[in-house]
Amino acid sequence: MRRFAGAALALTGALVLAGCSGSDADGKDSGGTPDLSVGSAYMPQPVSDMAAGFLVITNKGDAADRLTSVDSDVAASVTVHETVDGSMREVDGLDIPAGGRLVLESGGNHLMFEDLKREPKEGQKVSVELRFAESDPVTVDIPVKAATHTPKHGH
Ligand code: CU
Repeated sequence: MRRFAGAALALTGALVLAGCSGSDADGKDSGGTPDLSVGSAYMPQPVSDMAAGFLVITNKGDAADRLTSVDSDVAASVTVHETVDGSMREVDGLDIPAGGRLVLESGGNHLMFEDLKREPKEGQKVSVELRFAESDPVTVDIPVKAATHTPKHGH
């Protein structure tokens, strides 16, 4: 299946397909199927026991999907946050519109890693599993960038 083929760009080929069943696309135009790819992922090197993660999920499919949960072996808790009027709050998911994108970026939506089990350092990668309402889970290895990328957080 080529649904994630374009995703490797910013992930230096580190994208791992989870539960991908093969290359026989069965009627991709039959409607009602999200087609997700993940790119532009990074984590600013954390300066506390908490870290943020950013990425862009593109949906080339003709059905919406929803990011519902996130898991990582680097943190006891990974949640999805949105930022509204400068303050962040946890949400139970974020929509990925058909033919659109879900953008997690500094100052906006983001992944929140809390109770870090180790300190990710610049140059390392953090493996994260993204789970969706419709699509199979996607595992991405998020590169850790300099701490100067750290966004302002209102915790
Ligand atoms: Cu947050």
